[in-house]
Amino acid sequence: MLIDGRPARAVSVADRGLQYGDGVFETLPISAGVVRHWERHLERLRLGCARLGMACPEDTLLRADLDRLRAGVDHGVLKLIVTRGVGGRGYRPPDPARPTRIFVRYPWRPYPTALYRSGIVVRVCATRLSRNPVLAGIKHLNRLEQVLARHEWADPEVHEGLMLDTGGRVIEGTMTNLFLACAGRLVTPDLSESGVLGIMRGLCIEAAARVGLETEIRAVDLAEMYTAESAFVCNSLVGIWPIRELQGKGKRRYAACDLLARVTAAMGPDAIGGT
Ligand SMILES: Cc1ncc(COP(=O)(O)O)c(C=O)c1O
Repeated sequence: MLIDGRPARAVSVADRGLQYGDGVFETLPISAGVVRHWERHLERLRLGCARLGMACPEDTLLRADLDRLRAGVDHGVLKLIVTRGVGGRGYRPPDPARPTRIFVRYPWRPYPTALYRSGIVVRVCATRLSRNPVLAGIKHLNRLEQVLARHEWADPEVHEGLMLDTGGRVIEGTMTNLFLACAGRLVTPDLSESGVLGIMRGLCIEAAARVGLETEIRAVDLAEMYTAESAFVCNSLVGIWPIRELQGKGKRRYAACDLLARVTAAMGPDAIGGT
């Protein structure tokens, strides 16, 4: 673990990341010694810092930390946290503020190949996502909605939970973005008011475009999850997991689908994330 470029185990209790969740983070796989799509993660990190009105550490500092932690590592997970830094009591941000950068490396735990081949089981969570265009899209540190949603189930046979916003629209999974195949078209929920603009989501949209598939980005109702031909979730660690079954008001089983096969093929190694 590196804090501001130095090996360390703890941050100050006065750090605003701990006090208020005042910061942003990224989770990236190291795969065959390489951190794929670092530039895209950096771009989202910068967008998050800009939205929160806080300084972002220099690219060169982040790159140096990253290179140090990935050196000699074949597979692993890196988590980068950038907080507004140490502050006094009260919400008012210190001026000037010096951001804290924290890099943590975790061992890689491969996902079972069956999840890629046969698909996953997904449930519908009761916990709703709030709507806030300022916080939508960025990967800020306030993840209480996801924590509460993930606390709703313990069944290891259920791999992911779908989250709706307070208006009842389907937004994403607790840790993934969602795609559906509806009437032969690829659809993904609009994230302008809630959700995280996933790096893998962007890669899926681009891969689909390369094979001539346009992705509709729009509001998705829960009812559509039951009429969709197929659906899949994605994130940077997982790549793409097809959904085999949706548990909610009734069960929906999805069949293998040509659209998903085309997107997965176009994704190349990104379809299996950090594996
Ligand atoms: C809530 C949420 N949505 C979406 C994603 C997918 O993001 P990415 O593709 O950048 O990993 C994540 C990843 O952790 C997440 O936590």
